[in-house]
Amino acid sequence: MARVFSGIQPSGVPTLGNYLGAIRNWVPMQDTDECLFCVVDLHAITQRQEPAELLRQTREMAAALIACGLSPDKCVLFVQSHVPAHAQLAWVFNCIARLGWLNRMTQFKDKAGKDREAASTGLYVYPNLMAADILVYHATQVPVGDDQRQHLELANDIAEKFNHDYGVDFFPRIEPLIQGVAARVMSLRDGTRKMSKSDPSDQSRINLNDDADTIANKIKRATTDPELLPDNLAALEKRPEARNLVGILAAITGRTQEDVLAEHAGRGFGAFKPALTEALVAHLGPIRAEMLRLLEDPAALDAALHQGAEKAEAIAEPILKRAYEIVGFLPRR
Ligand code: TRP
Repeated sequence: MARVFSGIQPSGVPTLGNYLGAIRNWVPMQDTDECLFCVVDLHAITQRQEPAELLRQTREMAAALIACGLSPDKCVLFVQSHVPAHAQLAWVFNCIARLGWLNRMTQFKDKAGKDREAASTGLYVYPNLMAADILVYHATQVPVGDDQRQHLELANDIAEKFNHDYGVDFFPRIEPLIQGVAARVMSLRDGTRKMSKSDPSDQSRINLNDDADTIANKIKRATTDPELLPDNLAALEKRPEARNLVGILAAITGRTQEDVLAEHAGRGFGAFKPALTEALVAHLGPIRAEMLRLLEDPAALDAALHQGAEKAEAIAEPILKRAYEIVGFLPRR
């Protein structure tokens, strides 16, 4: 049984893109592997967060994850700041990673934007914390989007340098489980851009807490083209919006895109969109309801997260302790 770790930032209610591209793929892993899923609030504050918003979004993300099928009984579901070992190991890794390595991180360049001097130093060492998240559990399987590949390579470089510098074989190699581009959900307004929580237009995305009317409205207004649906995937090549909607219907109903096209070939979007809306509402309705139910009782939600943190800590503590010994820190009773 492999140990799986993944993290997700508490940056608002997850979108259909987060769900189909990541969260939904984590659900079956709970049955086959030992899984840890973490709401990474320490990562969130590398960019300015309003405290009340951060708190609300942390609970929202946890509720969404549970509503999507991550069960606190089957996996370890917790909040990063509840387990100090992440930050403690990250400090050691700050002293292992080289400036030159971090200077190559493309996500830092993207997130820091033009005024790099004004970026927080936390944003700069973000990848070191991410390496600690995974390695403090000796997790080896990490399901992430393609945009995180470089960070996982860095984590492996850190693990290797730690092992080499201290002459140990302590941290294992991490295997990225990159979620395929097939599961990539694009904006409803522009089929060439990723569906994103940070898009200024709410019309561009489906949020997991959107009600049926909102979903119907967003799909109705989604950008399409005037042509009919073809009977083969190749014909969608230059029609990103059409391709996206076909992809969403296929993903949400667990069918292949070919299968969806076989059913809808020769129809226009006037007929296709209601079918898509119906499938989305049927699938997301129960998730939304469960999410709202969980958020009505924050004490129960917090209690589930506290239990998760205890389970996580029980795994992390001995690994951190050993790492500290290897480094030469005076052992504490
Ligand atoms: N950096 C990841 C993201 O933005 C989130 C994350 C933090 C993560 N720690 C992690 C993902 C550890 C996988 C493993 O998507």
